Amino acid sequence: MRIVSGIQPTGNLHLGNYLGAIRNWVKMQDDMTAQGGQSLYFLADLHAISMPHVPAELAANTREMVAALVACGIDPERSILFNQAQVPQHAELQWLLNGTARMGWLNRMTQWKDKAGKNREGASVALFTYPVLQAADVLLYQATHVPVGEDQKQHLELARDIAQKFNNDFASEDSPVFTLPDPIIPPEAARIMSLRNGSAKMSKSDPSDMSRINLTDDADTIMQKIKKAKTDPEPLPSEKAGLEGRAEAANLVGIYAVMAGTTVDAVLADFGGEGFGKFKPALGELLVETLAPINDRFVHLREDRTALDAILKAGADKARALAIPTLDKAYQALGLVRG
Ligand code: TYM
Repeated sequence: MRIVSGIQPTGNLHLGNYLGAIRNWVKMQDDMTAQGGQSLYFLADLHAISMPHVPAELAANTREMVAALVACGIDPERSILFNQAQVPQHAELQWLLNGTARMGWLNRMTQWKDKAGKNREGASVALFTYPVLQAADVLLYQATHVPVGEDQKQHLELARDIAQKFNNDFASEDSPVFTLPDPIIPPEAARIMSLRNGSAKMSKSDPSDMSRINLTDDADTIMQKIKKAKTDPEPLPSEKAGLEGRAEAANLVGIYAVMAGTTVDAVLADFGGEGFGKFKPALGELLVETLAPINDRFVHLREDRTALDAILKAGADKARALAIPTLDKAYQALGLVRG
């Protein structure tokens, strides 16, 4: 088994990233250590330039994100932790896959539609071809499994389509160039919603910081954000079915359940009939309890830029060595002469 996944270094890690993806990354790292598989986790800095950005911030965020991932439990000795920009094979394979990906496939991507909005003419070409780079990210390493949140499912399906078409068009059936990767999406918490709007996902790009819990928030900030989180005036129901049509309440109960390692029904068995005045402080405390140790480690790790750069360099060296054989195969399959 080979696990590959990435995250854009466009700001702080938030609770959505943590519950939707990073916790699974850590779990799969531990599984791979036990089973003799491999896990590769990277910062998608090349993806980050598909939207307007400030170069100095991208550089700072890249290092901060390494510190945050290590603080969450990614161990650079057991996982290969790196950034795309130091492994040029990602961009190279993307170009090769651009010959296989179809305009119609990319046009259907909901993230492209959401992010470009009405201004398609003004969107960057990188934003449109973004999912092809994402396909290259996982196909380059023959990933078997890709742990992600629900919002990345469509991109992963596209990666499979690209791999399948490339194999069909350019490889023999008994020696395919690419492995078709399977997404791993957590059954609960695959989609954590904004604290201000139960129908929008929790996101780094939301202008309101009150909409998300950052992994770098201190205890007071977390308690305040939960206290101010949007809810409705009804008490909590005693069964899951009673949360239907109550997106904000369902989101908070869902977060509680995953953080406490229990089910939504078990949470409602405890809090059913109670108002948010009682539930919110309990949720806030639970979050502080889990996030405070991560925050402590993060604050310490982020100070040592030399150590962070060394982690990225060592990770990139290992990633390149794994990437080159697949890239060579892809060039060869396409009939590209390289001497
Ligand atoms: P990104 O940086 O937006 O998010 C990183 C991971 O966090 C998950 N996530 C969420 N999960 C649950 N609820 C939320 N509100 C929430 N917000 C984010 C995402 O699903 C993701 O798993 N395109 C990717 C990065 C990427 C990638 C890849 C991922 C680039 N190449 C190859 C996997 C494989 C992205 O922008 O994720």
